Amino acid sequence: MFQNKKILLGVTGGIAAYKAVDLASRLTKLGAEVYTIMTTNACELISPVTFKSITHQKVVTKMFDPNADIEHISLADWADIVIIAPATANIIGKVAHGIADDLLSTTIMATTAPVCFVPAMNIHMYENPIVQENVANLTEHGYFFMEPEFGKLACGYEGKGRFPKTQEIVYFLHTHLNYKRDLIGKKILITAGASREEIDPMRFITNHSSGKMGIALARAAHFRGAEVTLIHSVVTEEIPEYLNAIKTISAKEMYEAVLREFPKNEIVIKAAAVADYTPAIKAVQKIKKKDSLNLELTGTKDILAELGKQKKADQILVGFAAESENIIQNAKEKLEKKNLDFIAANDLSVSGKDNTEIILLGKKTELKLSGTKFEVAHQILDQILGKKSE
Ligand SMILES: Cc1cc2nc3c(=O)[nH]c(=O)nc-3n(C[C@H](O)[C@H](O)[C@H](O)COP(=O)(O)O)c2cc1C
Repeated sequence: MFQNKKILLGVTGGIAAYKAVDLASRLTKLGAEVYTIMTTNACELISPVTFKSITHQKVVTKMFDPNADIEHISLADWADIVIIAPATANIIGKVAHGIADDLLSTTIMATTAPVCFVPAMNIHMYENPIVQENVANLTEHGYFFMEPEFGKLACGYEGKGRFPKTQEIVYFLHTHLNYKRDLIGKKILITAGASREEIDPMRFITNHSSGKMGIALARAAHFRGAEVTLIHSVVTEEIPEYLNAIKTISAKEMYEAVLREFPKNEIVIKAAAVADYTPAIKAVQKIKKKDSLNLELTGTKDILAELGKQKKADQILVGFAAESENIIQNAKEKLEKKNLDFIAANDLSVSGKDNTEIILLGKKTELKLSGTKFEVAHQILDQILGKKSE
């Protein structure tokens, strides 16, 4: 994911500084060359030796070091991307006001590479209007910010201020290294997961969909600046808390939620695996064990077909077709019949995996896309944006 990429990690004096070790380790394992700059206060909380051992690269802490073998701003030119994690209120305030009084703030000021901040601090510090103003000013100047997570903070308070999960930071960084914030102002509706159709209070019918592709699409669209609504059924991974998520269980609930949200969105991507059939009668009591059982199923409403009928000229509708045979032929028929702009056809074997291979079909497109579901999600978004500019 970061093969041969030069990442400059800035670590400041927040209590989450120790969590930056896991981030440095993950980025290194993903192929990046990671150099670290630590502030004097960060060195009070964690040792530079830890980062050096993890990254096998230089860790610098001082601007005026006669023995240092790197020029004071050379790392600013070296980096493909800079990430400050954790970012204290102090470093955000300094950069927002043009202060360059140590190696990290001077490097941030001197670099032309994208700069990403991952703030982590006490809830009252984060909500302080001065900090918020600084974040807004820096955002306006093209710096990228990842929102802290909600939860129990080291200071004892509960609220927004926690250092995000390493994997989410990896996705955030990957996006800013490779893509622009080209979805700002766009509203996108994405569905994910496997629906559950109740047979009785104990049993249900479902399918193998993990929801990973839909969540990957939602994540990628969010980091590119879109306002994302994720309507999901049962998924096998945690839904990132920065997403506006609506939970549904059955095909009927999914139908109602999607139809309600559809008119508010410009782009709609339906990656959920919704049941085609549901039990004709849902037993109120648990069905007793017998030698055999005949279950009568009735068809559910076809959400994608209904959206295709209601679609306005300025809306883009994308469907997924998981098939076990005649993948392209079946997907092409679905594209036409349901009035879709694109359809992503894949083989059932990718279900639940982190990697995927799809054929994206549009009226003028037939493209094979492969990689992690997150990378493929970005490629699908590129194609959708390409269509908008046709
Ligand atoms: C134990 C400890 C934990 C701290 N945690 C945070 C924190 O999570 N976030 C923050 O913005 N400041 C935190 N601070 C305050 C910063 O260390 C302080 O503002 C310092 O000036 C930051 O310097 P730097 O940005 O140059 O690293 C903490 C201080 C101490 C003593």
